[in-house]
Amino acid sequence: MFRFVSIALFAVSIVCMGATNASSARYDKLAGKATYDATCAMCHKAGMMGAPKVGDKAAWAARIKQGMDVMVTRAINGFRGKKGMMPKKGGNPKLTDAQVGNAVAYMVSRSK
Ligand code: HEC
Repeated sequence: MFRFVSIALFAVSIVCMGATNASSARYDKLAGKATYDATCAMCHKAGMMGAPKVGDKAAWAARIKQGMDVMVTRAINGFRGKKGMMPKKGGNPKLTDAQVGNAVAYMVSRSK
């Protein structure tokens, strides 16, 4: 009996691990809109301070080619590129990594 329960728990934990991995690889662009509006639009809506403007396909094409991982990591950690300075989490340290990732997905979905 104990053996059966521990095998069952083991199976359940593997299923759960699979589920978290899958969801962390996917971003929720609809949820990202609120974060974008509150934090990222400040620069990315009008293209302030060198920020790639949302909807400007030419400004995003090369960035999108890098892949989501690069863009999300840069948005989370901040980065200084040729155009300007992308602040860590858009300057809002209260945002979770997932919220920043979702906001990137939202911006990208509107820029390609
Ligand atoms: C203070 C202005 C500012 C705010 C606020 C801001 N950004 Fe940026 N962001 C920039 C600038 C400037 C760049 C371009 C840097 C460069 O390439 O020289 C940039 C670039 C980016 C890029 C492209 C990275 C790449 O790999 O090319 C992403 C993605 C991004 N921002 C996401 C976000 C998200 C998500 C938020 C909100 C959480 C946000 N930004 C808020 C200024 C800002």
